[in-house]
Amino acid sequence: MKSVLYFYTGTGNSLWVSRLLAQELKDVALVPIVSGNPRAKVQEADGIGLIFPVHIWGLPPRIVNFVRQLPASSANYVFAVAVNAGQVVHSLLQVRKLLSARGIMLSAGFSVIMPSNYIPWGGPGSQEEQHLRFEQSRQKIQRIAEVVRNQESPPIEKGPVWQHIVFTPLNRLLFRLIPRMDRSFWVDEKCNGCLVCEKICPAHNVQIRDGWPSWSHRCEQCFACLQWCPQEAIQFGKKTPKYERYHHPEVTVQDMLQSLQG
Ligand SMILES: Cc1cc2nc3c(=O)[nH]c(=O)nc-3n(C[C@H](O)[C@H](O)[C@H](O)COP(=O)(O)O)c2cc1C
Repeated sequence: MKSVLYFYTGTGNSLWVSRLLAQELKDVALVPIVSGNPRAKVQEADGIGLIFPVHIWGLPPRIVNFVRQLPASSANYVFAVAVNAGQVVHSLLQVRKLLSARGIMLSAGFSVIMPSNYIPWGGPGSQEEQHLRFEQSRQKIQRIAEVVRNQESPPIEKGPVWQHIVFTPLNRLLFRLIPRMDRSFWVDEKCNGCLVCEKICPAHNVQIRDGWPSWSHRCEQCFACLQWCPQEAIQFGKKTPKYERYHHPEVTVQDMLQSLQG
């Protein structure tokens, strides 16, 4: 089966998952979700995979927009992988609903649990915890590849019912506020104006002005600016100065910048 894997990532977890899946599935084009026009590649594919992080108990705005543009004549087999830190909640059901509105069936939806990059709530966990998650995810990705190769349709993965009850309304409430959540970013004296934050922001939301980064309220809350800052000078709210930064250890700044070229 010829597949296109579309991915979006802030700190490399979803890129790593996409790479491993691509290795397992072989005849695959790995395509970053940059500008949102999926048409050209989709026409050539038998299978389509969407791989993305879970944000605020649901889909990042970029994924919502992307799915809304998928042509109805998309591949026979469409699957999604929600890369999360333990609370996938209704994100895969959300993908199914959006696809269904385009006349496309979601054949399978998988959750892969990786270290958390949501730094306002703390760091990514100890090295041991992170490695355990990587190992478990490696095994899960092999199982996902098997399902995809066989074009099977297991039940779409979702979190426990209590999470839907508590978090799905919160997701709906907060979703429209995401672009302006960048008001909580600030910069400490370690900033040397190196431009990494400006270059790595997938939304082109960060600009260096007078030597300092500023945010323009088109934020997608991926936290790439903060997590990839070489000086650890970018902060969010009050607590991040004391929390450890995170990006996937096998993904580099160059990988990220390259993926933003499309
Ligand atoms: C703004 C934001 C919100 C998040 N919300 C959730 C969430 O609701 N549930 C969850 O399990 N993980 C959540 N996370 C953690 C990420 O989904 C997780 O770390 C993911 O692996 C990051 O993937 P990436 O490196 O490809 O961006 C959130 C992360 C961010 C930045």
